[in-house]
Amino acid sequence: MQSELVLAPMDGICDMAFRRLCRRFGSGMSIIPFLHARELMASDLEMNPSLQFTPDERPIILQLYDNCEENIILAANNLQKIQPDAIDINMGCSIRSISARGAGAGMLRDPQKIASIIRRLSSMLDIPITAKIRIGWDSKNLNSLEIARTIEENGGALIAVHGRTRQQRLSGLADWDSIAAIKQEVGIPVIGNGDVRSIADIQRMKSHTGCDAIMIGRASIGNPWIFEPRTRASVPQSEVGEVIGEHLENMLLLYEPLKAISRFRKHLVRYVEPHALSDDLRLRLLTSDHLVSLLELLAQAGFAIPNRQKLMNCVS
Ligand SMILES: Cc1cc2nc3c(=O)[nH]c(=O)nc-3n(C[C@H](O)[C@H](O)[C@H](O)COP(=O)(O)O)c2cc1C
Repeated sequence: MQSELVLAPMDGICDMAFRRLCRRFGSGMSIIPFLHARELMASDLEMNPSLQFTPDERPIILQLYDNCEENIILAANNLQKIQPDAIDINMGCSIRSISARGAGAGMLRDPQKIASIIRRLSSMLDIPITAKIRIGWDSKNLNSLEIARTIEENGGALIAVHGRTRQQRLSGLADWDSIAAIKQEVGIPVIGNGDVRSIADIQRMKSHTGCDAIMIGRASIGNPWIFEPRTRASVPQSEVGEVIGEHLENMLLLYEPLKAISRFRKHLVRYVEPHALSDDLRLRLLTSDHLVSLLELLAQAGFAIPNRQKLMNCVS
């Protein structure tokens, strides 16, 4: 890891375009959000857009989920072809259709399965095997110390901990005490995650938990400066315009224009959030689906986009 701050995997957000941007701002590694192992066991990996990454993203970590141990083993084996720097097992996804059948956070209910998967993967592959966990299934089943020990004892190289239960999903507050307890319990690196929203929170989580690194999810959307780390309020609007242009260019290189612009909206809404815009202009910005009109609206909103011509070349 090249920094103590890491972009969290977020499905639908952390595509190559955003990961590259955050790496440039200082995120220590790139994690490709959860991939269903079942779909990667024998497929042609080069054709899979979710698996695209650039050399400047390394170290690159592929995150897998599945309830079937054999699927995970076969997928990890197949994934060696694209030479990831580590494989991460998702033990935190709270989506009902995934967790209820024993994948994602559902795996926390089966420490033996975790032991077997981590043991087999660590002996089969010569890259680190890591896990991203929650602190338990629900408040009555807070077994993260047992899970963390199991991961370490079976060869896991690193644990990222989102300080919530599966039942909490993204609600309530992340429990940093539990992250601190895991850090005390194991010798392998622990990454703390949950509710780091500001530069001050980075320092607070570090001193509260003693964790080796900090993973930032939602607070990085529209705010890659958090990885520098630098407060969003200190970023001049001219620089926001430059980064919007860079991010949009990354998107246009990855997707066809309509898809790039519609996917970019989730980011744009957060880039422009701190700026005073009329409701009408904000709405038009966030519903525009043509590059020319989007660039015009950005100019009206006071965001100068220096790579305008390059963006136009991407769509011509
Ligand atoms: C839209 C979205 C998608 C997510 N996708 C994933 C994922 O693919 N894999 C994963 O381990 N966690 C995923 N998460 C959870 C985040 O990695 C992180 O644990 C959570 O957002 C808490 O961190 P934060 O408070 O910094 O946002 C996702 C979260 C969000 C909001």
